This record gives sequence, C-alpha cells and structure tokens, in this order.
Amino acid sequence: MLPTRLSLAPRAVVSLLLTFLALSAHASAYFIVEEPTASTQWKNGQAAPVKWDKGVLDGVDAFDLEMARLGSDGLTYVAMNVDTTKNANKVLNIVLDNIPAGDDYFLVFLNSTHGLIHGTSDRFTVLAKDSSSNANASSPDSSASTVTVTSAPNPTNAWATTFALPNGAVRLLTQGLESAFLGVALAMLCSVAGAAWTLL
Ligand SMILES: *[C@@H]1O[C@H](CO)[C@@H](O)[C@H](O)[C@H]1NC(C)=O
Ligand SMILES: *[C@@H]1O[C@H](CO)[C@@H](O)[C@H](O)[C@H]1NC(C)=O
Repeated sequence: MLPTRLSLAPRAVVSLLLTFLALSAHASAYFIVEEPTASTQWKNGQAAPVKWDKGVLDGVDAFDLEMARLGSDGLTYVAMNVDTTKNANKVLNIVLDNIPAGDDYFLVFLNSTHGLIHGTSDRFTVLAKDSSSNANASSPDSSASTVTVTSAPNPTNAWATTFALPNGAVRLLTQGLESAFLGVALAMLCSVAGAAWTLL
C-alpha cells in the first residue's frame, strides 16, 4: 500500500504544477462579454449595446468584432480596431439593418490579423424589423460609438466600421501576443507531459 501511494504522489504533484503553469499564463487574459447574453433579442432597425469587461493589464488595447451564426459559416465584419484601452467606454452600440432573423447569432471578439480570439458572446436572437415581438435589449449608450451593420453574413464583405487604433496599441498587443503564445506552448507542454506520464 505504501509503495503505491509513493508512486502516485509525484504524478499528482507534476500535474498540479503543470496546471498551475498553464493557468498562470492565462491569468491576465480575462475577457467577459456582458451583452448580448442568451436572453438578448436585437431587432433590426433598433440600436442595442454590446458590452464587455476585461483585465486592465492584459495588453489588449483594441479588438475586432465579428458576428457569426451557428447554423451557417458566414461571418459579418462588424467593427475593426474597437478601442478598449484602460479609460475607454466598454460599450459599442450596434444597429442591424436587413440582417436575417435567427436565434443562433453570436459575437466574436478577436484580433483578426492573426486570429487570436479574446472572447465570444452567448448565442442570441435577431428579430426582423417587422417582427411583432419587442427587442429584449438594454438601451444604447448615448456616449458610445454606434456601428450600423447592413450586410448579411458573407465572408467577402468588408468591415462595417474601422476605428483608428488607440495610441500605443501595437506595442502592448505584442506583449499580449507573446503571453498568448506562451499559454499555447505551456498547454502543449502539459499535454505532451501528460501523455508521456500516462505511458510510463
Ligand atoms: C431579456 O429577458 C430576460 C428574461 O427573459 C432578462 O433576464 C434579461 O436581462 C433581458 N435583457 C437583456 C438585455 O437580455
Ligand atoms: C492585431 O495584432 C497585430 C499584430 O500584433 C497588431 O498590429 C494589430 O494592431 C492588432 N489589431 C487589433 C485590432 O488590436
């Protein structure tokens, strides 16, 4: 019984250590999509807010916003270079125009240059302009920018809005990128170590 315990112990310690390393590499990468949520309904023609929150020191000073549907592979490019520096408003108003109704939309917050995803929203609903239901969304934020999205999901469409990148964003983003790569490298290391450990 004792030898069994002893041989299990190092394995547990190693996996705990690897888990800790992987978690600490991601600790600063905190990004929460507050709206839309699963019960949100956006109605074509009415402004509704997108809200998020994120870690202050994560190195992400801007993101690109895309809208996608689970049921189709089309993407709508909503806005590029959305400012999310420390003092920026973490709200962006969206007005949908002629977007097909559906209950399988979600937003992707990412750097589209290299595809690093910061966060995704819950799956939410888009109502037609002439729908008899009311939109279930918060009021738009009068101090935030408003983006009108007219295109139907189509990967060849251009961005509805491109903002100017905030000052200093590139330098800080490089750090964010490095820590993302570190996270990926650690995750790979963990799975390799985990696999090797299982084989032993
Ligand atoms: C929508 O409706 C649900 C209740 O069904 C509510 O919890 C939610 O806060 C509402 N508002 C938004 C913006 O989703
Ligand atoms: C995406 O990353 C690239 C390279 O790090 C950077 O130049 C660009 O500004 C980033 N885009 C956004 C929206 O942050």
